Amino acid sequence: MALADFVADLDALADAAQQAFASVADAAALEEARVEYTGAKAGKLKAAQQGLGKVDKADKPAAGKKFNEVKTAVEAALEAAQQRLAGSAKTQAREAFDPTLPGRPFRLGHLHPVTQTIADMKDIMGRLGFTAVEGPEIEDEWHNFEALNIPAIHPARDPLDNFYLATATTLAPGSSNRGPSPAKGPAAAAREEKPLLLRSQTSTVQIRVMESTPPPVRIISLGRVYRPDTADATHYPMFHQIEGLLIDRGVTMADLKSVLRLFCQSYFGKDEVHIRFRPSFFPFTEPSVEVDMNWQGGWMEMGGAGMVDPNVLRAVGYDPEEVTGFAFGLGVERVCMRQHGITDIRALYENDVRFLSQF
Ligand code: PHE
Repeated sequence: MALADFVADLDALADAAQQAFASVADAAALEEARVEYTGAKAGKLKAAQQGLGKVDKADKPAAGKKFNEVKTAVEAALEAAQQRLAGSAKTQAREAFDPTLPGRPFRLGHLHPVTQTIADMKDIMGRLGFTAVEGPEIEDEWHNFEALNIPAIHPARDPLDNFYLATATTLAPGSSNRGPSPAKGPAAAAREEKPLLLRSQTSTVQIRVMESTPPPVRIISLGRVYRPDTADATHYPMFHQIEGLLIDRGVTMADLKSVLRLFCQSYFGKDEVHIRFRPSFFPFTEPSVEVDMNWQGGWMEMGGAGMVDPNVLRAVGYDPEEVTGFAFGLGVERVCMRQHGITDIRALYENDVRFLSQF
């Protein structure tokens, strides 16, 4: 075949292909044109390439160059068509979206019921003059036990009743990983080895505040505490406490009872609130009481309280002859559950939106 004929055929092919691609209006037409011109088996480009074999030998290089130019041009036309159609698909989608339609109502989220309870408690205690402070959830034995008058031999320190964390010391070869060695006893040992645990009570924060602030003190601390209890309707290995601490000259148990009564009155919005104290024991308070509140004809347990033990005041450098104070620790979930009539604490932490959305 003469070179001139080959070139003329290719030019015609390029024109036709470019026109075809430029005029397709939808994806189906584009696909049809693509197969017709660039199809790998029976496409017109393929056929032209086969024609290359019939060109005179001397003209082959020129013919090959021409073929490549046309191939590139046809492919470019195909790509341009693809882009044009994709762009118009986007425009169509944009035009189909009507922003003035009301649509489905949004489902608004809200605070978790326990978080709501905490916020309410902070608010009420704030009005009673108590400042909210925070403390770490990972504690050392000094703040969780020792300074709270809980000596090393005390059963509350049993590794099975606390979440001790594996520290470098407890994991060292040859050492026991069952937590601290109780035999070492005094605070010095606890401080030197520093076994760590997840705090089992918010009373830790009392110590941290008193260590760093001279009296008077009037604080609350709200947060998570951890105990290795098996989860059931009334127990969960993590729960929240509200801790209150008031230290000043001449503070008495009457002040404690008044504050707790005012707190419960405001929280539950009741006029007739009675607070009952039952004798109890906590190493860090003397005397110690269990606090109950009248509730639907019976008594509801709120938590523990008492007058801060002189040993605790001394441990933080206060003079028990100068100042006295009270402390209390109440269960947040307990209050939240009673308020909403929730009977299983686990429901609060399953994060089932159908349950949580009710509060
Ligand atoms: N820390 C005690 C507990 O977790 C509660 C408490 C706090 C008791 C303050 C007395 C004073 O059970």
